[in-house]
Amino acid sequence: MDKEKVKAFSERVFADMSASLASGMVYVGVKTGLFRAMEGQGAMSCEQVVERSGLQARYVEEWLKGMVASEYLQYDPAQQNYLLPDEHAFMLASDDTDHFAGGLYAMIPVLLAGAPQVAEAFKTGGGVPFGNIGEEGILALDLLNRGAYQHRFVSYWMQSMPGVVERLEVGGRALDVGCGSGHVSTALATGFSRAQVLGIDPDAASIEQARKTAAAAQCGAEFLAVTTTGLLSDASIEPFEFISACDCVHDFPDPLATLREIRQLLTDDGTFLVIEPKVADRLEDNVNSVSTMFYGFSLFHCMTQSLAVDGCGMGACAGPEQTQALLKEAGFGSVELLPIKSQVNLFYAARR
Ligand SMILES: C[S@@+](CC[C@H](N)C(=O)[O-])C[C@H]1O[C@@H](n2cnc3c(N)ncnc32)[C@H](O)[C@@H]1O
Repeated sequence: MDKEKVKAFSERVFADMSASLASGMVYVGVKTGLFRAMEGQGAMSCEQVVERSGLQARYVEEWLKGMVASEYLQYDPAQQNYLLPDEHAFMLASDDTDHFAGGLYAMIPVLLAGAPQVAEAFKTGGGVPFGNIGEEGILALDLLNRGAYQHRFVSYWMQSMPGVVERLEVGGRALDVGCGSGHVSTALATGFSRAQVLGIDPDAASIEQARKTAAAAQCGAEFLAVTTTGLLSDASIEPFEFISACDCVHDFPDPLATLREIRQLLTDDGTFLVIEPKVADRLEDNVNSVSTMFYGFSLFHCMTQSLAVDGCGMGACAGPEQTQALLKEAGFGSVELLPIKSQVNLFYAARR
């Protein structure tokens, strides 16, 4: 055994442990408003942070120290004060913008709360059902994605499909499958006021949240707690010019069957937009932080919630070749990887 390698790996052990627990502390900072209390304030004493945040002094003190230790905050020992750098505030105190990263940390307690059950499922099979993420999980998913959906979906991402934009500007029908808390449907209904927009999701609690999202935006998006199977069984449903499935194809228990149903719901000249995690096809190309994050999402949520309902457990880490092959197998005649820049997502446009 190489002692130097053991020493180097022990550093890695502590680095990962500290990253995990730093993430928990960041979650608290986002959730309690501590980052927002410090944003743009310059250097602050602990007492000033306590006063501005209205939180308990001893908790705030320990949090500030932990955030200094993990280099999220800067500390001036002479003045004994704390600074949230503007660059960090840009990502952590910027709720509802497309550069807010705080929603990622909101997933930490949600994902790890299910870790004991996931570990058990390694022995017993099955999985942890979607519903186990509870209201906290639905709100975390909402916080994770809503800034990008509000600010990028129509104004940036859809602009790479000019034909779809032109069509929806004059009317037409749009469907968001696996709509979760409804921000894509709301962005579509707000951006294309003449289009009819429907969001569907089998999770009733998500649909309840989606209706609140649309009501807050005063838009006409409608929602149904059904799958595509349910929608197809409704004889009054007409086909859609545009269908999206954002961050959810890999969550479908039977992705191939659902993609085939989506194809049936599309007009002959319609477009299907798929947004999936940005990972590579080959495992050896996934040795990086973004892929590690997605394998964690997959193990603790995406894969296990599918296995919990006897699904195939596709998981969040299919790369572009596998995703395009799946869409082709479902019958889509043309599948294109869209040239949209993103650190975390890949975008596909499929046509019948
Ligand atoms: C990770 S969430 C994404 C939600 C939303 N699209 C977003 O980006 O925030 C995955 C969603 O897929 C939904 N889902 C799972 N199986 C589904 C199915 N067969 N049909 C439609 N939606 C499904 C889940 O209920 C969940 O809301």
